[in-house]
Amino acid sequence: PDPERDRLIQAYEWSAKFYHYLLKNTEHGTAAMEYLRARNFSDKMIDQFQIGYAPDRWDTLVQFLEKRNFDPAEMEKGGLLSARGEGKGYVDRFRGRVIFPIANRTGKVIAFAGRILGEGQPKYLNSPESRLFNKSRILYNLHQSKASIRKTRQIVLFEGYGDVISAWEAGVHNGVATMGTSLTDGHVGLMKSLADEIVLAYDGDKAGQAAAVKAIPMLEEHGLKVKVALLPSGLDPDDFISKHGADRFMEQVMSSAVSSIKFKLIYLKKNHILLEEDGKIAYVKEALEVIATLHSSTEREVYLREIATELELSYDSLKQDCNLLRASLQ
Ligand code: UTP
Ligand code: MN
Ligand code: MN
Ligand code: MN
Ligand code: MN
Repeated sequence: PDPERDRLIQAYEWSAKFYHYLLKNTEHGTAAMEYLRARNFSDKMIDQFQIGYAPDRWDTLVQFLEKRNFDPAEMEKGGLLSARGEGKGYVDRFRGRVIFPIANRTGKVIAFAGRILGEGQPKYLNSPESRLFNKSRILYNLHQSKASIRKTRQIVLFEGYGDVISAWEAGVHNGVATMGTSLTDGHVGLMKSLADEIVLAYDGDKAGQAAAVKAIPMLEEHGLKVKVALLPSGLDPDDFISKHGADRFMEQVMSSAVSSIKFKLIYLKKNHILLEEDGKIAYVKEALEVIATLHSSTEREVYLREIATELELSYDSLKQDCNLLRASLQ
């Protein structure tokens, strides 16, 4: 029994309901509602993900919690309130932000992420780590996606809350996200206990691609199969769905996810100008280093033939270089 933990969970549960109510049913929430509409968040998703709004005032939640006899010092430790700068007292931690409740895998709300309306820093304010909330072990939306994960043995891993929510509406019911931190071994271990395959659906920007490059070996080391969904540059999954719709997302992004090897080759290719000999040779060298690590000779042949055709090289010389490289790796 851990009464302090139970009280904090109770406080998060009520605060989530309160913020959701303020968003949907009061004038405080009007601007936030317009913001969410402009981003194509539907009523259905706002309800299902219990999205809320924390008004831009100092003591909305302070008063709400006080009336229910929660100890403000305890609520501060749990990340719902902040200690006032000077003197005594507490203020709301989340002010003027759209609230995304974060639940543990049993569905209990244990933290909030608050997004500013429009531009500003930080874009997302998260609850601090607490006795309930360990960022490196929590996956956003795992409580709702675990049924589908169990059936498919597959997890789609997104960067952000909006991506998980929009993808859910598009039909991806096995999606989760890490919370602002990059992937940790804690996340990987958790996913390995639930699934055999991970589809990385990171943002189509440099940061997203670099994160995918980093995540692949971490996942593969644990024996997970990895695929990568490719987003056009500048769009994340949520942007893509808003712009092109759910059907195109499912067809052109999810169903077209490529193997981790294919992704690495695409990624390497982007860094070279293939019209120049130097660029071509450098790309082939890096590509061979990736292909040489493949254990299956069939797989190696598939990728070597692709490169041969694409760069107008002979398969035989690629194969020879690849085998030399393999010999030197042993
Ligand atoms: P992104 O910058 O890709 O944000 O960061 P986003 O999810 O697309 O957000 P929108 O669409 O602009 O609202 C990906 C994730 O990194 C974390 C959040 O979890 C976010 O969803 N993050 C980002 C933070 O925790 N704090 C930040 O200030 C920014
Ligand atoms: Mn959307
Ligand atoms: Mn991003
Ligand atoms: Mn993003
Ligand atoms: Mn986004």
